[in-house]
Amino acid sequence: MQPNPDNLPRHVGIIMDGNGRWAKQRGLDRWQGHTEGAKTFRRIGEHAADLGIRHMTFYAFSTENWNRSPREVAAIMDLFREYLTEARERKKENEEKQIRLRFIGRRDRLPADIIKLIEKVEKGTQECERFFINIALNYGGRDEIVSAVQKIALKVRNGEINPEDISENLFSDYMYTAGQPDPDLIIRPSGEFRTSNFLLWQSAYSEYVFTDILWPDFTNDDFDRCMEQYAGRNRRFGK
Ligand code: FPP
Repeated sequence: MQPNPDNLPRHVGIIMDGNGRWAKQRGLDRWQGHTEGAKTFRRIGEHAADLGIRHMTFYAFSTENWNRSPREVAAIMDLFREYLTEARERKKENEEKQIRLRFIGRRDRLPADIIKLIEKVEKGTQECERFFINIALNYGGRDEIVSAVQKIALKVRNGEINPEDISENLFSDYMYTAGQPDPDLIIRPSGEFRTSNFLLWQSAYSEYVFTDILWPDFTNDDFDRCMEQYAGRNRRFGK
């Protein structure tokens, strides 16, 4: 059943989890799970755009994921390289579909060639306005908040901001997602019930859907079922 277009979330966050277990279940190496996970990422992104969702944030690599084996980290970096290269090659198509790509997270520690590719892809899509894809890469929610505080503190010190003018709205403008609505819905597959430092500030009133399905197995129908669950929620925003 097609999700009700009148009650779709404007912004959906997804914690792409379970790639390692998916691979293990099949006697494969962990990186092969990430390769499948990257395919799911592409497919779900396209599906969400077809449904009319405007903003998606995918959690791809956390500030803690550097602790994985060098081989696994290298394999994940290769997947980003591949995707970014593809995004550059598809510049025209992305423009036609009006897809804006943003990479949220710290740029330091990322390989120099990936940083360059990110800058090119972000610049090349910055005018696009229909579908926003954020990829959280070397991202941590607490880290994002601390970095916003540092930027605001600098402006206070320089006399550009009065401490009493610091509001929730102003603070949101210093988040990586500035200008975008907060996520209405966050999906976490793979049977874990944690938020894992994902969009801490932005998720204050997000609805959550947790499912047992491992990310590489996550189908478009599974996504539609998440939309149905969302549509059935009674959002009160604390009122
Ligand atoms: C968590 O699963 C997943 C990751 C740390 C990496 C996710 C990366 C991708 C899906 C590739 C993204 C690619 C692009 C192009 C955006 P896990 O390894 O923790 O799984 P486990 O809990 O089963 O071990």
